[in-house]
Amino acid sequence: MLGNFSYKNATKLYFGDDSLKYLNEELPKYGKTVQLIYGGGSIKKNGVYDEIVKILQENGKTIVEDSGVMPNPTIEKLREGIKIARDNDVDLLLAVGGGSCCDYAKAVSVSVNCDEDPWDKYYLRFGEPTCEILPVGCILTMAGTGSEMNAGAVITNHEQKLKIGHVFGEEVMPKFSILNPKFTFSLPKRQMVAGIYDIFNHICEQYFSGEDDNTSDYIAEALMKSLIHSSLIAIEDPENYEARSNIMWTATWALNTLISRGKTTDWMVHMLGQSAGAYTDATHGMTLSAVSLPYYRYIMPYGLKKFVRFAKEVWGVSSEGKSDEKVAEEGLAAMENWMKTLGVAMSLSELGATEDMIDGITEGTLILEGGYKVLTKDEIRNILKESL
Ligand code: NZQ
Ligand code: ZN
Repeated sequence: MLGNFSYKNATKLYFGDDSLKYLNEELPKYGKTVQLIYGGGSIKKNGVYDEIVKILQENGKTIVEDSGVMPNPTIEKLREGIKIARDNDVDLLLAVGGGSCCDYAKAVSVSVNCDEDPWDKYYLRFGEPTCEILPVGCILTMAGTGSEMNAGAVITNHEQKLKIGHVFGEEVMPKFSILNPKFTFSLPKRQMVAGIYDIFNHICEQYFSGEDDNTSDYIAEALMKSLIHSSLIAIEDPENYEARSNIMWTATWALNTLISRGKTTDWMVHMLGQSAGAYTDATHGMTLSAVSLPYYRYIMPYGLKKFVRFAKEVWGVSSEGKSDEKVAEEGLAAMENWMKTLGVAMSLSELGATEDMIDGITEGTLILEGGYKVLTKDEIRNILKESL
């Protein structure tokens, strides 16, 4: 049964290899000053920066540069971005990059007109914006997080060793996002596969919860199958437009709030991965892959029915003459093989985590209650040790 819900997605998307031209349609809707947000320079190398600057200039915009947004954006960088926006009286925050730039832009957007420090307000107290929110637009160069069509913004505080995500309301979603699959061609393979695993896990986080027969889980299965199929093509042939465009679109649907409608969700892999990320600063998707199998193998008995369905529907495991446990295990084994084929991290030690970090990572892991088993701190510690 589907639970009751409301649904609205406030982001307008432009998708395809000509999608950047639609920036010309969006820019006139906003004032003159654009804060151009980007990362460490990949957009300068692949030419995307020049194309965007040209369009901004043709539209008579004043460009305020805000570069150097790092993967896993920090609270210090966020404070810097807020200051840039305030000092220049910015009208539009235009993020060009992956989830880090999009998340960062959203975090700036809810903070510019607020007096209180964003870390305390949004990340420790999970307060809601009480001030005017600046509009955000995204031009995506990496498929993974779904940040282009959701209201999430994850920020890391290295001093406090915490990485926390706040999912804001629809008013914080990007006003528009431009998705050109060709912009993702220049991603290093490691980033591409990290993004692919991130997408897969977003779907799992919403799928492995609840037992009811509902449409969301059927959509989730279709998205997983499409992703697995396209990922295997993309790792052999990274410039295969068909595969890369399917991956990009799957990423958006995996976390644009649709497949969680009317059902409970888990998100414990993300809680474990994020906490590990606060200690290692590792690539987001890799922190998820490193903890996934120990976590899913641990909770499998509590959600056996869904793990059997996953094995049969997503991985094509035959159930003939087998116990439910055996079928479910074969599903996870198939997932493990796929992960190894992609080449994602299979352990936290690969990401620089060490035994002495386990207590801290355990402490920093938020316990959510939507999954098949509400974990205790001891169980979290054991899963993390297994993941080392
Ligand atoms: O900084 P540059 O030089 O641009 O390089 C980036 C960065 O080093 C590079 N890159 C991106 N596009 C490229 C490219 N390199 C070459 N060619 C391109 N076309 O890739 C690196 C990683 O980028 P990043 O934006 O950090 O990756 P991702 O999209 O995975 O975003 C990760 C952040 O998003 C958060 C994560 O926690 C992490 O902080 N998440 C946000 C979510 C949301 N808003 O809903 C949900 C996710 O679960 C996730 O937590
Ligand atoms: Zn994620």
